[in-house]
Amino acid sequence: MHLNVFTQCSPSPQFKGMWRVPGDRTATGYRSLEYWISRARQLEAACIDALFFADIHGVYDVYRGSWAPAVRHAVQIPSIDPALLLSAAAAATRHLGFAITYSTTYHSPYECARLFSSLDHLTGGRVGWNIVTSYLRSATANGLGEYLDHDDRYDRADEYVQVARALWEDSWDADAVVRDVERDIFTDPDRVRQVDHEGRWFTVRGPHQCEPSPQRTPVLYQAGSSPRGIEFAARHAEVVFLTLADPAAGREPVAALRAAAARHGRDPSMVKALQGTMVMVGRDRAEAKAKAEAYNTLWSSEGQLAKWCGWMDIDLAAFPDDTPVDEIRSQASQSFLGFLRKLTPDRTWTVGDVKYLVSRPRRPRVEAPVTLFGTPEQVADRMEQWLTVADVDGFNLIPCPPSDGIDDICDLLVPELQRRGLFRTAYDPAEATLRERYFGTGVRTYRDPARTVAAREG
Ligand SMILES: Cc1cc2nc3c(=O)[nH]c(=O)nc-3n(C[C@H](O)[C@H](O)[C@H](O)COP(=O)(O)O)c2cc1C
Repeated sequence: MHLNVFTQCSPSPQFKGMWRVPGDRTATGYRSLEYWISRARQLEAACIDALFFADIHGVYDVYRGSWAPAVRHAVQIPSIDPALLLSAAAAATRHLGFAITYSTTYHSPYECARLFSSLDHLTGGRVGWNIVTSYLRSATANGLGEYLDHDDRYDRADEYVQVARALWEDSWDADAVVRDVERDIFTDPDRVRQVDHEGRWFTVRGPHQCEPSPQRTPVLYQAGSSPRGIEFAARHAEVVFLTLADPAAGREPVAALRAAAARHGRDPSMVKALQGTMVMVGRDRAEAKAKAEAYNTLWSSEGQLAKWCGWMDIDLAAFPDDTPVDEIRSQASQSFLGFLRKLTPDRTWTVGDVKYLVSRPRRPRVEAPVTLFGTPEQVADRMEQWLTVADVDGFNLIPCPPSDGIDDICDLLVPELQRRGLFRTAYDPAEATLRERYFGTGVRTYRDPARTVAAREG
């Protein structure tokens, strides 16, 4: 089983209001190297695959047409850039992987290629890229480019990945750097080439600015689950972050994702499906219940509304409650409304329903399959059910509360999974890179049937 832990460099990753949990360290730790280094060491001691950083550009200003609710409730603001802490966290660890979110809409592929090559060198091949097309219109107010329609963003992302991979994989031969002191040649120019890309969105000549890093292409993650998002994932992604409603209903989308990868000529076993799920663990039932009560008390309704309105690019405060949400046109993420539809497929969701659902605190329940809640035994039972029924390869665990929840994963949940033989008790020293952790020793570079990089690797 693969286990990632989800976080963000902001005070209250994912669950609004949880920065108020007494003693939780994320609210101030998110901007401290010491905090991230100790989290990385802790996760490595628990043999976790990778620490996954969500990230955004812009601010959630859709709800009531204002960014004030987001600022007030720390809805992904303030937040710092996760790429900058990776080197320090990598220096403090040897095996833990790191995946960071990077937008194909608000950055250039040339810069992206250099950033990830740099991180791959500096982490010794332990970096992944969570490819997002971004949904916040507000980024454009800061000169970061143009807000494109949903499917256009994915078209641009397709070309973006093509350019970045050409820079990573085609521009430098594995033996281009010769460091020949006698002949005064650092790199043999005959073994470096331009990529000469000219497409609808990008013109990039190259050559790439970095010599090949251990993985060349970072491990490619993807999270959007609209039909267009799944198509994109099937074409490019190696690790897909799913938000399935329950194990039985999840089986079909997981199988569809693998089938779509096969249609693109890819080996479906080269796509790992991770269920993204909140995890709240207590030592015993009473402790779990107390955590759930605190969750309810500290929940921020307005913060949740600000987040969901940004995700959907729909101001729920601007429509009468009986308006069907399907009638409101939006170009933002389709995954989140899609998730609600999957929860109750026969229902016509209205603005009032969505407002009620997202703003009302819902105490985590053991019976709710989408939440990993309860004692370590109860949570491990539920995880086994996800693995066998939905056929997922693992989880992107969203700890709640954000830092105490990391302690609970490492101290309570992982030992129970290890006791059951479901999770490694040590890293395999032969797996030097993050990609090898997912796909086995020797699989260091991206496997693409349409490309020949493996041949050049010799
Ligand atoms: C579980 C999940 C996590 C996501 N994390 C991020 C993130 O950290 N940053 C971001 O800009 N987009 C994030 N997204 C947005 C998607 O990657 C995607 O760009 C967006 O959802 C639009 O595509 P879709 O309609 O296919 O979902 C996330 C989406 C999902 C479903």
